Amino acid sequence: MTERASKQPHDPATGSGAESGSGTDGGRAPVIAIDGPSGTGKGTIAAGLARDLGWHVLDSGALYRCIGLAAERAGLDLDNADAVGDLARRVEIRFDSDRVLLDGDDVSSEIRTAAGGVRASRVAVHPPVRSALLKLQRAAVRPPGLIADGRDMGSNVFPDAVLKIYLEATPEERAKRRYKQLKEKGLDANLADLDKELRERDALDRGREHSPLVVADGAVIIDSTDLSIEQVLARALSEAGRALGAARADAGQE
Ligand code: C5P
Repeated sequence: MTERASKQPHDPATGSGAESGSGTDGGRAPVIAIDGPSGTGKGTIAAGLARDLGWHVLDSGALYRCIGLAAERAGLDLDNADAVGDLARRVEIRFDSDRVLLDGDDVSSEIRTAAGGVRASRVAVHPPVRSALLKLQRAAVRPPGLIADGRDMGSNVFPDAVLKIYLEATPEERAKRRYKQLKEKGLDANLADLDKELRERDALDRGREHSPLVVADGAVIIDSTDLSIEQVLARALSEAGRALGAARADAGQE
């Protein structure tokens, strides 16, 4: 469930500069934040919501994956906060339909590997990296709206999101899904290794000091362990309808 899609090509680096806002008025584009640990299907749900609402998508994990890859390519020590932060301010990351371009180079497949996830988690602990990416993420907001998926979308990047969804599932279920996905692609996979890698990444993402993975205030928690993707999407769509209706009603009363 790593599907990532955007209806239109979008470019967080050169976004329209519209501000994040909770309302649907005043030209400010609304944001729906989807957070949760790895392997809960955030990308698939974000894509489904975007398709239904005709909104843009921000895959914030891809940004961290790109910084991890860029740092490795530059021969940097991934644990060096200043060096990696400096690099994060200099690189150019662009989304073009389903492609992710790092300084013009198509890295869409390279960033998706298990190693790419681990690299991303290592560089994601550094405050200078997070603040460089914060600007890019906020610049991705544009009408008619943005579905932002990641770990701190609702808690930190878009605290005014019109809807915050926190997707969860047991580690066993998430590892099984990832295993199935890799096997379907004809790739080699080992369930025990995947389970271990997911738990390590969870621990890093939840335990880090800056912007750890938490349930944002006001987030709707959806446990997808025993649900199909269709069921999760239906629930997310109904939450989106309710939240957008309430935001419109609030705007009407102002
Ligand atoms: O979502 P994805 O698996 O692509 O994210 C890769 C890693 O990037 C996460 O495990 C996490 O460490 C980091 N990340 C983050 N904040 C986000 C998105 C991703 O720290 N908003």
